[in-house]
Amino acid sequence: MSDDAILILGDEQYRFPVREGTEGERAIDIQDLRARTGYVTLDPGYANTGSCRSAITFIDGEQGILRYRGIPIEQFEREPNFVEAAWLLIFGHLPNPEEYKTFSENLTACANLDESMKHHFEGFPRSAPPMAILSAMINALSCFHPEYFELEDKDHFRCAAAGLISKIRTIAAYAYRHSIGQPYIYPNPALRYVPNFLHMMFSQPYAEHECDPIVRDAINLVLLLHADHEQNCSTSTVRMVGSSQANLFASCAAGVCALWGPLHGGANVAVLQMLEQIHQGRISPEEYVRLAKDRDSKVRLMGFGHRVYKNFDPRARMLGKVAERLLPTLGVRDPLLDIARRLEEIALEDPYFVDRQLYPNVDFYSGIIMRAVGIPTNMFTVMFAIGRLPGWIAHWWEQSQTQGSKIARPRQLYVGPGFTDHVPKDERM
Ligand code: CMC
Repeated sequence: MSDDAILILGDEQYRFPVREGTEGERAIDIQDLRARTGYVTLDPGYANTGSCRSAITFIDGEQGILRYRGIPIEQFEREPNFVEAAWLLIFGHLPNPEEYKTFSENLTACANLDESMKHHFEGFPRSAPPMAILSAMINALSCFHPEYFELEDKDHFRCAAAGLISKIRTIAAYAYRHSIGQPYIYPNPALRYVPNFLHMMFSQPYAEHECDPIVRDAINLVLLLHADHEQNCSTSTVRMVGSSQANLFASCAAGVCALWGPLHGGANVAVLQMLEQIHQGRISPEEYVRLAKDRDSKVRLMGFGHRVYKNFDPRARMLGKVAERLLPTLGVRDPLLDIARRLEEIALEDPYFVDRQLYPNVDFYSGIIMRAVGIPTNMFTVMFAIGRLPGWIAHWWEQSQTQGSKIARPRQLYVGPGFTDHVPKDERM
């Protein structure tokens, strides 16, 4: 009782219970606010709104902490394994050897697309943005797999999840092959998740792509670090669409669309464009930072800042280290890495960024890594989507299993015209 929050509205006092999360986070439970007071809350951008209880990912933005199911993200660095992290996020614990083996086999078994899906790819212009293709094709998957419309139990859900996690990489690779006018390469059942993806991206009918273990580990880490980030824009979208009981595929297709925007997943492309611009000498790093600080310019330092992190994004720290290691090992000398370091240096010493607690985020270095291994820039956000998919699936499932889960339907504060009569067409000025 003493922990209740008290709201005073005129002469009335209302008490609302305070709920506490496992890490001591506190939330005022206002579920019956409108019913009791007639008021709603106003929180554009939902920066102060907890939309659900979730047991998947914990972030402490002030301290730069990110944990999947309680495990600090840094502990995945030594042997990065995206498939293992996907299982962990979705099913709540690290897979035992039997679970891992079965899940890997499911992924292998599901990698092919229905042959007639190829016609869909053909219908897109070569220049189609891969994120548009990805979203459309994930939605199209539901037409080919109506057996997953209604998920009866956990086993059924596991098959749907494995199917989607496996097929997204085939769709992504086919979208790329279509864009460059090259034949689709079928998945190879002998290969693991990441090498199989790179095989479909880069092999030729007459020449097999060989995946360097260093590249395999780097891409595993990139995907793993993107795998979940609690209630971000795309995950909230998946939850919102899923709250209407839309199927898993439709909900995740919507997540891809949300991720596409430059303030979210699309930032990894925008970072590269920014670095290229500086590299081509069109603007200096100092001038770019000056513009990013100028409110009238609309320019932002891409890959900097985060809604939740008010300290270093731990993912950026880890990816920065990977970039430093990977490029020399591959014999890649990328001037964009030097430019990124220079921008970071300038920004971290500038009171504008310091005062606003703007630090590099996950997108700042991921593009440099992907570029070094030959992933083209227009596929960067697709890579983010492949990585984020387990998170979307985990949240969709968590929500669907939550007793009393409701359709997501926020309120608003109406600020439009008052009662206005309709004017017949011929009487209008
Ligand atoms: N460059 C310059 N100024 C910035 C930046 C930036 N990157 N980010 C925030 N600010 C300023 C902003 O102008 C505002 O200043 P003021 O207080 O004077 O009005 C202040 O910092 C707070 O910014 P905000 O836009 O209110 O913060 P937000 O929490 O709504 O936005 C963000 C978070 C990530 C959208 C924003 O920082 C941003 O646009 N960053 C660049 C895009 C980017 O890198 N996005 C990837 C995010 S991480 C991956 C993901 O989760 O998708």
